[in-house]
Amino acid sequence: MKLYMAPMEGLTGYIYRQAFGRYFGGADKVFTPFIAAEGSRSMKNKEIKDIAPENNKGLYTVPQIISNNADNFVRFARLIENRGYEEININLGCPSGTVVSKGKGSGMLGDTDKLDSFLDKVYGALPDMKVSVKTRIGLKDPEECMKILKVYNRYPIHELIVHPRIREDVYKGSPRMEYFSYIYENSLNPVCYNGDIKNVADYEEITEKYHKLQAVMIGRGLIRNPAILKSISSHESGPEYVVDKQTLRMFHDDIYNAYKSYLEQEKIILFKMKEIWCFMIDLFADNEKYFKMLKKSDNLRNYNIFVNKIFYEADLNP
Ligand SMILES: Cc1cc2nc3c(=O)[nH]c(=O)nc-3n(C[C@H](O)[C@H](O)[C@H](O)COP(=O)(O)O)c2cc1C
Repeated sequence: MKLYMAPMEGLTGYIYRQAFGRYFGGADKVFTPFIAAEGSRSMKNKEIKDIAPENNKGLYTVPQIISNNADNFVRFARLIENRGYEEININLGCPSGTVVSKGKGSGMLGDTDKLDSFLDKVYGALPDMKVSVKTRIGLKDPEECMKILKVYNRYPIHELIVHPRIREDVYKGSPRMEYFSYIYENSLNPVCYNGDIKNVADYEEITEKYHKLQAVMIGRGLIRNPAILKSISSHESGPEYVVDKQTLRMFHDDIYNAYKSYLEQEKIILFKMKEIWCFMIDLFADNEKYFKMLKKSDNLRNYNIFVNKIFYEADLNP
């Protein structure tokens, strides 16, 4: 079973991915947050940096593109290919209001004719690249997944990564497993499961039920516990790796120091670190008082106090 790190805008940029690789690893592939292929523009500096080979050493990185325009998509795919990549991913899952209102991300799932003609052009123009799809199961109704799968089955999708929620679910409720089962049984392309895997037991439940799966992708569960993929693979071959505070602290400091040297504004560094902690704090026992401290930290001095305190005082959850 292959294990993937999900793309997460604002969280899994190259600084995070590199630190993850250095301290934990275990990902067969890591996906970049989406790059928007729009109009006549080229890639932004931030996007170029994120996929630069020197910032992706030691990891198999798959750049992800979001667009509803096949020409723009193909143009960006070639720009990415020129930087040494042979595999890219299409974002057909983003539920964000601003993205969906422009008919992109999961907004493309509501009109299967348009989706079909987009994929027809993309796959027609990129026969030499591995093009995978990351998708939700529908826009408004999970029953849409049957029509959507019919479209996907017409193309040589390198991997079909399925998050079994509709756009309107955003992240609420549970993944709609009966619809995932339908896709798993009827997809002509290799399927990867993505959604709500938080620990080794969740992973085992999925892989025992769906033993033909090509891969499993983990997003929030990995930001919560960056050692999750290492724990899963060690569990399969021997004693399970369990993250310790010292390694977690080094991982944290690596990311924090990189942000401090690369971002100028204190406010932005704080914002980015807080985003990680919104998930990672769950690793610590009795974390409420520390979470309050984190939320109140409005400068790096207070943030440092929070970090020292939580790592010194709090235990990791078993
Ligand atoms: C903050 C945030 C940012 C995300 N950014 C992206 C993105 O750039 N591209 C994408 O395909 N999915 C994105 N996702 C969705 C995740 O990749 C993943 O599909 C989703 O979180 C469900 O998997 P999980 O339950 O393992 O987290 C994002 C999710 C979150 C919460």
